[in-house]
Amino acid sequence: MKKNYVTTQDFTKEELLDIINLSINIKKNIKAGYHLNVLYHKTLGMIFEQASTRTRVSFETAMTQLGGHAQYLAPGQIQLGKHESMKDTAIVLSRLTDILMARVIEHKTIEELAHYATVPVINGMSDYNHPTQEMGDIITIFEHMPEGKRIEDCKVVFVGDCTQVCASLMMMITKMGGHFVHYGPKDFQLKEDYLKLAEENCKVSGGTYVVTEDPEVALKDADFIYTDVWYGLYESELPKEERMKIFYPKYQVNRDMISKCSPHVKFMHCLPATRGEEVTDEIMDDPNVSICFDEAENRLTAMRGLLVYFMGKMEETNAICKKNLGL
Ligand code: CP
Repeated sequence: MKKNYVTTQDFTKEELLDIINLSINIKKNIKAGYHLNVLYHKTLGMIFEQASTRTRVSFETAMTQLGGHAQYLAPGQIQLGKHESMKDTAIVLSRLTDILMARVIEHKTIEELAHYATVPVINGMSDYNHPTQEMGDIITIFEHMPEGKRIEDCKVVFVGDCTQVCASLMMMITKMGGHFVHYGPKDFQLKEDYLKLAEENCKVSGGTYVVTEDPEVALKDADFIYTDVWYGLYESELPKEERMKIFYPKYQVNRDMISKCSPHVKFMHCLPATRGEEVTDEIMDDPNVSICFDEAENRLTAMRGLLVYFMGKMEETNAICKKNLGL
């Protein structure tokens, strides 16, 4: 079993399906009112170099629901960076906690933490990828699969800027054998280093990937439309007004865009959203189209599964879940 969850590229499709199925089993148990104390007396250390709502709260809630405890180590409130190196922080926190997660500014920081920590390390987002979001997203896609389709039949389209969420969605969909499209302006499309991974994944899984500015190619028969903010995540070379001119109106997810997709298309967003920019209120609040709040809830579904898996409790937990549900 791998020690860390830094990128889903380290995992096979089967390993990822194990985590997905475990997460779904735990969700069903908790929804049915069962308490699973499989992480009793265990402590998660949560390092945050940036603000977070979903990632922070879902990890903390997951630990509480599983009988453990989470410590929020806020930006600027631990010695990391000023008085202590990542190496020493990793060694010390490994002696004080049972598992770590970190949201970091630069990907090399999470790699360093994973390298020096002796306890499991989960990547809560870097400038390169967002693998816990990926896990919640694929669970949401499975839950909203169009009738008669499998993931291998689905066309999943990311619209807009090639954020780390776009890259992560690509990694998961191509790993699963689905059909991934990045529909975005030329200078904001997934770059070669990511496309090499897409290529590798598709060779194994039978999936496909396309990067395009053509709305007809991107939107026709799309099963899922996904977007992320156009501005504000990281320092940008361009001021907001210039970025808006590049993305708006062509890449805004609105009624007109949705009408060009499959009639059963679902809208996804990692959140937080800038309503009126990358998505209209009308689409975000449409109960027949938008699944972005189910997706936010499934961050918790994913965190429970990931914590149990990386604490080495998958088999025991699956057995308890099945027994509780009489399966
Ligand atoms: N999607 C996501 O990671 O949200 P937070 O930044 O609120 O954690």
